Amino acid sequence: MKISQEQANLIADPRAFAAWDPIHELYRDLRRDAPLAKASPEGYGEFWVVTRFADIQAIEKQNELFHAGDRTPTLMPLATEEFIKQMTGGSPHIVRSLVQMDNPDHFKHRMLTQSWFMPQSLKKLEDRIREIARSFVDKMLATEGECDFARDIAFYYPLHVVMEVIGVPEADEPRMLKLTQELFGAADPDLNREGSADMTAEESAAITGAVVADFHNYFSTISEERRKDPQNDLATIIANAEIDGLPIGFQEAMGYYIIAATAGHDTTSATTASAMIELAKSPDMLKRLQDDPSLIPGFVEESIRWETPVKHFLRTATADTEIAGQKIAKDDYLYLAYPSGNRDEAVFDDPFEFRPERSPNRHVAFGYGAHICLGQHLARMEMRVLWEELLPKLKTLELNGAPTRMAASFVCGPKSVPVRFSVN
Ligand code: HEM
Repeated sequence: MKISQEQANLIADPRAFAAWDPIHELYRDLRRDAPLAKASPEGYGEFWVVTRFADIQAIEKQNELFHAGDRTPTLMPLATEEFIKQMTGGSPHIVRSLVQMDNPDHFKHRMLTQSWFMPQSLKKLEDRIREIARSFVDKMLATEGECDFARDIAFYYPLHVVMEVIGVPEADEPRMLKLTQELFGAADPDLNREGSADMTAEESAAITGAVVADFHNYFSTISEERRKDPQNDLATIIANAEIDGLPIGFQEAMGYYIIAATAGHDTTSATTASAMIELAKSPDMLKRLQDDPSLIPGFVEESIRWETPVKHFLRTATADTEIAGQKIAKDDYLYLAYPSGNRDEAVFDDPFEFRPERSPNRHVAFGYGAHICLGQHLARMEMRVLWEELLPKLKTLELNGAPTRMAASFVCGPKSVPVRFSVN
């Protein structure tokens, strides 16, 4: 089935996730009536919109049959894709990181850091992360009862954690935040480089190229420093990594830094800010979590499902096949609608209700299969620690105005979460 032009346009419209309800309503209808639906938004090529949890997992599980890197793994207007090919001399990617790779390269590059990101290895970071969390809680409490939780706390705490993990000095964090927001928020006039709401495809490709060049300039210096003077950080592992006995390629090292520096905080910031909206709306939930802190990991998991900050990835079929009885042809492009999978009525009871007690809560917000989020355990740990530190301090909490959301079609979440609170 092919969905209407209006529906297709909504899926590609960065403002859809800022508006929130219309896209969730569309996905609910698609899950019910057309779980694999063809869409051709104006300016974009044709792709399948995959809205059911089981189909998203089935596609992600078969990573040889559905490639991540044959085309751009994130949605892009056709004209932008063309400009990128012109800029790169034929490649659909400006950045070559894990998300753009398939095997054998993907496995080899992922193995360089996979054990570093496992819970056992991350344990050693927990005390330091708690110190960072405390400093942000103190910052919030110092506002004397009113702050914008997104702009004052949620944007900066995960940034600080991941930059320390990578080895980026604190003084450079504002630059990293700006570059990430320019990369992911290219369609939001508050966040993009030109402050413009309607960019042409050429402008948007050129801006993405310029942002990536800035990242390269920055990280090539860090890489050189870590080769000369190794430290106990992720940058040292990447800078000195070897693939098949040879030093990791420049593009691949830069891709690693960029994905860690970008995927590592906007996602977690969006989830943290979104969790605060739900908490500020429910004094009862605040009390339940304060009375029983063992509910905090469930609260974190539910906030990840609720926000699903990564709104999609795309795959390309490498052969003719079938998903849920639907014929998929070789080279078909498939849009994995994670927020839809995470509200699939076949998997979640009352999916439109926020419930920290939800169990099991096996969502697809971190993806699935070979590419499943490398930073998932770090993200969970840093959010759990923040709430463990903040919740006991709060006596009352409420929204102090309407939250607003970013306009972006790949990674996004709340832009502003004004809250009023009192402390114990
Ligand atoms: C990949 C979500 C936090 C690093 C991904 C993917 C998703 C995702 C959906 C793609 C998975 C797939 O294709 O199946 C999230 C969410 C986060 C989060 C929801 C927070 C709530 C982090 C953090 C890091 C990180 C803190 C740390 C550096 C990565 C990397 C990949 C990735 C390196 C690429 C993995 C691969 O392709 O093999 N993430 N992420 N993410 N994420 Fe995260």
